[in-house]
Amino acid sequence: MSAATGMKRAGAKVPVKTMARCALLVFASLLPAKAAPAAPARPVLPLMPYPSSVKLGVGEFAVNNGFGVVLRGYTEPRLERARRRFLAVLSRETGIPLRREAALNEPNFFIETTGPSAKPQRLGEDESYRLEVTPTAVHLRAANPLGILHGLQTFLQLVRVTPGGFSAPSVTIDDQPRFPWRGLMIDVSRHFMPVAAMERNLDGMEAVKLNVLHWHLSDYQGFRVESRRFPLLQQKGSDGLYYTQDQIRSVIAYARDRGIRVVPEFDVPGHATSWFVGYPQLASAPGPYQLERRFGIFDPAMDPTKESTYQFLDSFIGEMAGLFPDAYFHIGGDECNGKQWEANPRIRAFMRAHSMTTTAQLQAYFTGRVEKIVAAHGKIAEGWDEVLQPDTPRDVVIQSWRGAASLSDAARRGYRVLLSAGYYLDLNESAAEHYAVDPFAGNAASLTPQQKQSILGGEAAMWTEFVTPENIDNKIWPRAAAIAERLWSPESVTDPTSMYARLATVSRKLDAYGLQHHTSYPRMLRRMTGGSDPEPLRVLGDVMQPPELYARMRLGDYDVFTPLNRLVDAIPPESDTARNFLNLAETLASGKGTPEDWRKAEQSLAMWRDNDARLQPMLTRSQLTADLGPASTNLRNVAMSGLQAIGYLQRHRATPRAWRTSQLSFLKEAAKPQATLVDMIVPAVTQLVEATRPQ
Ligand code: ACM
Repeated sequence: MSAATGMKRAGAKVPVKTMARCALLVFASLLPAKAAPAAPARPVLPLMPYPSSVKLGVGEFAVNNGFGVVLRGYTEPRLERARRRFLAVLSRETGIPLRREAALNEPNFFIETTGPSAKPQRLGEDESYRLEVTPTAVHLRAANPLGILHGLQTFLQLVRVTPGGFSAPSVTIDDQPRFPWRGLMIDVSRHFMPVAAMERNLDGMEAVKLNVLHWHLSDYQGFRVESRRFPLLQQKGSDGLYYTQDQIRSVIAYARDRGIRVVPEFDVPGHATSWFVGYPQLASAPGPYQLERRFGIFDPAMDPTKESTYQFLDSFIGEMAGLFPDAYFHIGGDECNGKQWEANPRIRAFMRAHSMTTTAQLQAYFTGRVEKIVAAHGKIAEGWDEVLQPDTPRDVVIQSWRGAASLSDAARRGYRVLLSAGYYLDLNESAAEHYAVDPFAGNAASLTPQQKQSILGGEAAMWTEFVTPENIDNKIWPRAAAIAERLWSPESVTDPTSMYARLATVSRKLDAYGLQHHTSYPRMLRRMTGGSDPEPLRVLGDVMQPPELYARMRLGDYDVFTPLNRLVDAIPPESDTARNFLNLAETLASGKGTPEDWRKAEQSLAMWRDNDARLQPMLTRSQLTADLGPASTNLRNVAMSGLQAIGYLQRHRATPRAWRTSQLSFLKEAAKPQATLVDMIVPAVTQLVEATRPQ
């Protein structure tokens, strides 16, 4: 078992890495630049994912009232809708009423499509495009609409405001993805995500060229799709929160319009309690069953020994195979602990009769049966890495999540694989940490070229124990864009400093799509403070992060009914303020700070110190903020420590040994979560204190 095994739901074993941030940034920047001939030496345009070839020209193409867009060559209604959407986003950003103008004007933006793409969209289709921007015209060319969709997004990222108005720089871009499968998994079982939330996030996916929505539709806490053959699934298993089949079809159509495939996941044989509420006969113990309200790993599992289980699954999967057009069908397979199987004498007898000594063997038997059902309905099965067993059929796509070793292991054995280990957005890791994870790194580096071909790509994963429709955008974006770049751009594009600079631009651009990752935070702060000015709360929130990994599970008592409306729920998983301050502290500690740098650091630290006095009286007014007092005081004390260190550093004075020792031990304590919040200024202040010269 790898370090992460059992962690997803159990939340018990992995150490909290609160101090790892600076070390990881250093690590990421030290990664050897790998040779990839087409790679840009230094990304210069604010594009994300960075294209495989960028040649800068001279001059600018103005985006103004003279803008005219025309479709040439092959056309279809989807391209016309893409054109309209493109103009709507551009209008929202520039304020120019392009939708009307663009139809009347002489065209100067030419979209040239050679032919159609497959329906349904297929894995590995040509997604390349060429975008040529000159001062007089833009030409976007692609073999099919998929490349056009990507090229339009690239153009939107190029547009910025200059003294002469909105424009895009002259450039020739030739671009195609490194991996054909670039996904985002969204768990809608633990917290249901209404269609509007799914659509917003599909818009975000389109913007960064992600092309697979992996929709995790059933789990212990809820079954989220209408089944007509087995209506008790949604009637008893969803609290009324499920998608009708019409809604599913509309989300799939919405995704197709954006070049995105939709792969459904129905997690079996474990993670299936929501099925058993309506159909207890599927389970391995009599029941009755209720929806799980808590989080973790639970014992109920489908009975793999009864033919009736497979008859049910055959009928159900047949129905869903008709609803979801994609060629791939995810059957889960993770974290089945086998306890219900071991406790059932009939199942134990079945195992003996089939010479099985472990429940893993029984699960392999189940997976083999389900894979055949999936195949009989014309689909290719996909599963989490637990489904990789000695007899797993070769067709099954393995999704590696417990550690990257399973990725290379499966690829070596001839399976097609996807990487999700390292891309779990719910772990609250930094964009740089995700960015440093490459599907071809580690054990995969020694794969043969042919084995590497079987690495299809990867998926970011958004599990939703602590995520609601209100804050999901903030927990996915912008970090998912860094993963999107890892999966699209040349392998040599690895510089985290460049990534963060471009990520900030793309993050702002996503606002124009209606994503709420910037707007939900201030809205939630205002609610927390009632009527009063939330500014002091924002000062605190700006330098706090949720704890990494599953530490939060241990810091509170949570279930699906817990309102996720506190500071930890409102803040982004990665503090930009703290990261920038860490960079500043590193500059100061290295002796390279300018007078302006010193002044900036002092100002920030003084603001954090003084914030406590402003914030404390507000906190006690509401239950939502009452537990934040210690975190605020902690920030004040950390800031005071930083100010003292700066004083010593600026005056080049040796510091009393006792002061240094006491500060460092205080900072160690201060790094621990307070009210599920981690003070992210601590690593920077620690650097400053360590940089002082002891007497
Ligand atoms: C998983 O995170 N249990 C796939």
